[in-house]
Amino acid sequence: MAESKSLLSIRGVSNSYEGRSYGIFGKKENKPVLDNINLEIAPGEIFGLVGESGCGKTTLGRCILGLIDYQGEIDIDGLRQIKGRRGPKGLEMAGKVQAVFQDPAAALNPVKRIGWLLEEPLRVHRLGSRGEREKRVDEVLDLVGLDSSYKTRRARELSVGQKQRIAIACALMLRPRLIIADEAVSALDVSVGAQILNLFRDLHASLGLALIFISHNLNLVYYLCDRIAVMRRGRIVELGTAEEVYSAPKHPYTRELLSAIIE
Ligand SMILES: Nc1ncnc2c1ncn2[C@@H]1O[C@H](COP(=O)(O)OP(=O)(O)OP(=O)(O)O)[C@@H](O)[C@H]1O
Ligand SMILES: [Mg+2]
Repeated sequence: MAESKSLLSIRGVSNSYEGRSYGIFGKKENKPVLDNINLEIAPGEIFGLVGESGCGKTTLGRCILGLIDYQGEIDIDGLRQIKGRRGPKGLEMAGKVQAVFQDPAAALNPVKRIGWLLEEPLRVHRLGSRGEREKRVDEVLDLVGLDSSYKTRRARELSVGQKQRIAIACALMLRPRLIIADEAVSALDVSVGAQILNLFRDLHASLGLALIFISHNLNLVYYLCDRIAVMRRGRIVELGTAEEVYSAPKHPYTRELLSAIIE
């Protein structure tokens, strides 16, 4: 395989979900969701993925994370992604890509102490001594703008914005090179959402972290991202710099998305 400078390389990725069967003679039909996706993301790039609800954005994210099966190839930092990968390679992959989702309350156990939650990936992979794990927890809390007193608090005591900071801290524990943020500010009000966006920008700047920002909101990805892909019905229909896609959209569907914002 030729050496590639990409951090993430997606080649010919397709996927389908098994459809339901209806009636006693019902035949199960596979429902195609992703249709031949090709995408390269550079180290440290901030990439936006937009498109209408149901077009397959989350499904593509789940393929990249190795949570579901797909046809085609996904390589992250030279390692092939395979569904449900475990063991040392699973750990290696977990140190390359992590995710932050829309609803931090669903992602965090409400009654466990934050310090315990943050240490979990290190405990699971038996990494570091107790002291080292604690030190890493302090570091990531600092990275997400929270002081170490948060270690003894519980998720249920926190505001939704603080919870999202903790979810981001969890994602950072294993020092990933790529974070997939799937509608990570959609559930937040505008000012808290803006603070979280700034946090992502700061993390990108200080850690050289690459980000895939999945959103319905073309304005938001324009503000944040270097390049944008517009998805429709499981395909990428437009791909370019944020400026190109926003100012000179080529595909009629992108123009439709833009006019929906301006109205
Ligand atoms: N577990 C599943 N089983 C069957 N079909 C699914 C499953 N998850 C998603 N789908 C279908 O796959 C398609 C793509 O869904 P996906 O969640 O990837 O879209 P999305 O672009 O993330 O949408 P949204 O913007 O609403 O989050 C949809 O038609 C959805 O109904
Ligand atoms: Mg989604």
